[in-house]
Amino acid sequence: MIRNTAVFESEEFRQMLTLAQTMEEPPQQDGSLRQAWFISRAHELVSEKEKQLGRKLTACVVTFGCQMNERDSEKLRGILRLAGYEESESEDADFVLYNTCTVRENANVRVYGRLGALSVYRRKNPEMVIGLCGCMMQEKDVVEKIRRDYRYVRLVFGTHNLHRFAELLVASLMSDSPVIDVVDKDDSIVENLPAERTYPFKSGVNIMFGCNNFCSYCIVPYVRGREKSREPKEILREIEQLVADGVVEVMLLGQNVNSYGKGLSEPVTFAQLLQEVEKIEGLERIRFMTSHPKDLSDDLIEVMAHSRKICRHLHLPVQSGSSRLLKIMNRHYTKESYLALVDRLKAAMPDLSLSTDIIVGFPGETEEDFLETMDIVRQVEYDSAFTFIYSKRTGTPAASMPDQISEEVIKDRFDRLLKEVQRIGRQRSSRFEGQILPVLVEDRNRQEAGLMTGRTPHNLVVHFPGDEDLAGKIVDVRLNEARGFYYMGERV
Ligand code: SAH
Ligand code: SF4
Ligand code: F3S
Repeated sequence: MIRNTAVFESEEFRQMLTLAQTMEEPPQQDGSLRQAWFISRAHELVSEKEKQLGRKLTACVVTFGCQMNERDSEKLRGILRLAGYEESESEDADFVLYNTCTVRENANVRVYGRLGALSVYRRKNPEMVIGLCGCMMQEKDVVEKIRRDYRYVRLVFGTHNLHRFAELLVASLMSDSPVIDVVDKDDSIVENLPAERTYPFKSGVNIMFGCNNFCSYCIVPYVRGREKSREPKEILREIEQLVADGVVEVMLLGQNVNSYGKGLSEPVTFAQLLQEVEKIEGLERIRFMTSHPKDLSDDLIEVMAHSRKICRHLHLPVQSGSSRLLKIMNRHYTKESYLALVDRLKAAMPDLSLSTDIIVGFPGETEEDFLETMDIVRQVEYDSAFTFIYSKRTGTPAASMPDQISEEVIKDRFDRLLKEVQRIGRQRSSRFEGQILPVLVEDRNRQEAGLMTGRTPHNLVVHFPGDEDLAGKIVDVRLNEARGFYYMGERV
């Protein structure tokens, strides 16, 4: 992959690092200066270790879960890099950190599996430090299990203290026993932390943290805490700095971006924030996720429809087509109101691409409920859909609901849904055949030499002949041939 090679730290943070190096003790107040102090301290410890071993130390961060976790991992990598670690793509490294997800049971299972598989490398390198962080660590029984059965894990922290990673890293490098630090709540937002972006030309930008919606199946509000928005000026400043560093596309991130700005001292709407982001010179494309249908305003539709930069793609999770189940899911919309929203969106933007998330097998789901889901999928005609088998999450209201659905029934429904979603997706995706669209070139094609891969504003993947130096540029490509969910094209 064509990867970024440098850590991006803001001018403010660079000044803090210089200042921190002159301080004997870490500043008491939580914030980026304190973290800068610990980064310098970690750097000293890493250098000492390198002298002892006579080689460089390496670190590997593995991400599970959603874009929020991807973005968090970029921050973790940025800190590790400033602490002196070389990045390793393989888990055969001196420091291995798993940034975990717990949205469905299989996410947890994968983490335990990977952890077990690390024993090969551990035997080879007894100095290896293994760390776990992220959503799964906010669950008490998980941390208990790690303490009991995975004693070789040296560092555990959660989602609320991720911004204190530098400090926790130093603690684990200096301690003989595991450092386990998970807190239930932390309202501070530490701005200005460095990050190592995966791509030089695009970046996620958190606009808010947490979730207040408590959909009855979902564990996210329990592990990510209450919703809190970043100040618009901090978001705009971060994007300006990213653009100055070569970024042309941003993805604004939040569990429910449509409720952005509610708790701020001067409330701002998401539509207003987008208008400000649009003004940033040099920024070419704006994406965002996720949109909760219940909070998607007509103002937002208006802003999207008139924007030059906001991509014509909306991820609008429906979860189910049954109004009866949507109520029990605590989603606050009905099949009818969702369809009416889709009509308004399509009327304002006829070429809009829509994608969604759907859960199959929610407790009590009848064949009739399921047929409502099949029906909404046919009516909306999604460009793509992520289909999930309901997973019981301890502590959520749905976990103790009666009528959990048998595996057999779920499997049958899941297969029928997947077939339909793919049939419609293929049909929808081919609607651009023959058109010329601007494509942000992302990477070389891994299967075929001489081909580059990029995305249209609608988030469709296109492969076309081109050179590597096109990466990060937006070029016009004719979409010659639709092949299922991607295109073969040529530059014009
Ligand atoms: N905040 C986003 C979604 C975050 S989780 C939103 O509300 O749209 C991503 C997706 O995982 C959800 O949209 C849902 O479809 C799925 N999901 C969440 N909890 C689940 C569970 N317990 N079982 C199966 N799928 C689940
Ligand atoms: Fe989960 Fe619902 Fe919040 Fe999305 S909006 S993260 S599905 S509780
Ligand atoms: Fe998973 Fe946490 Fe995201 S549970 S889906 S990584 S918010």
